[in-house]
Amino acid sequence: MRLRNVKNARERLIDNHYFIEEPINNKGLWHKVFGNDNPIHIEIGCGKGQFMATLSKLNPDINYIAIEKFDSVLLRAEEKIKDEDIPNLRLCIIDAGSICDYFELGEIDRIYLNFSDPWPKKHHAKRRLTSPLFLESYRKILNKDGEIHFKTDNRGLFEYSLEMFNECNYSIKNISLDLHKDLEKYPFNITTEFEDKWSKLGPIYRLEAKPR
Ligand SMILES: C[S@@+](CC[C@H](N)C(=O)[O-])C[C@H]1O[C@@H](n2cnc3c(N)ncnc32)[C@H](O)[C@@H]1O
Repeated sequence: MRLRNVKNARERLIDNHYFIEEPINNKGLWHKVFGNDNPIHIEIGCGKGQFMATLSKLNPDINYIAIEKFDSVLLRAEEKIKDEDIPNLRLCIIDAGSICDYFELGEIDRIYLNFSDPWPKKHHAKRRLTSPLFLESYRKILNKDGEIHFKTDNRGLFEYSLEMFNECNYSIKNISLDLHKDLEKYPFNITTEFEDKWSKLGPIYRLEAKPR
């Protein structure tokens, strides 16, 4: 998602209590940020933040970090929650390509990848957030029971991701090839902005993956 650049987006983010200005300083110390030892779940590529905002209010005993590459996009997420008090949610600008600089080995309990950019051209495959280099980084920051929960409307990305999770020695469970038809099996499903839009037009694919 590339929203038009918002003027002074970073400065506007700095002005609010959800935003972590220098997330790199919290590597290995994220529990201190939240002031408790609760599990930490992150969404990489949170977009406008609906998913994390909803989930964090439903689960006050889990700490959530919404991660986004672009400040103009993250500002939209911040605007959604700025008048609320959600103590277990933080927002950060991080590029997934350097995620290991921000989290210690085993520091994270769950990673959500929701509607990641599909990068359909073969020569862009390395940019997909489920390509092997990313999966190796996620393996490092996840703890021993950690999981990745992945959803997409893009069949090509889903098939590619299944293949990469297998190739990179992840076990896969709870696959759905049409999540919104399977909702009795996934009553806990929280939708994202993209999901609300694209689920009207076709199936949503989802899976859970765990490093072996
Ligand atoms: C298609 S949007 C989906 C947004 C949201 N998860 C949803 O489902 O509505 C993908 C988001 O991932 C972000 N993104 C792409 N590459 C990223 C990266 N390397 N690190 C962090 N975020 C990234 C994009 O800026 C964009 O906001």
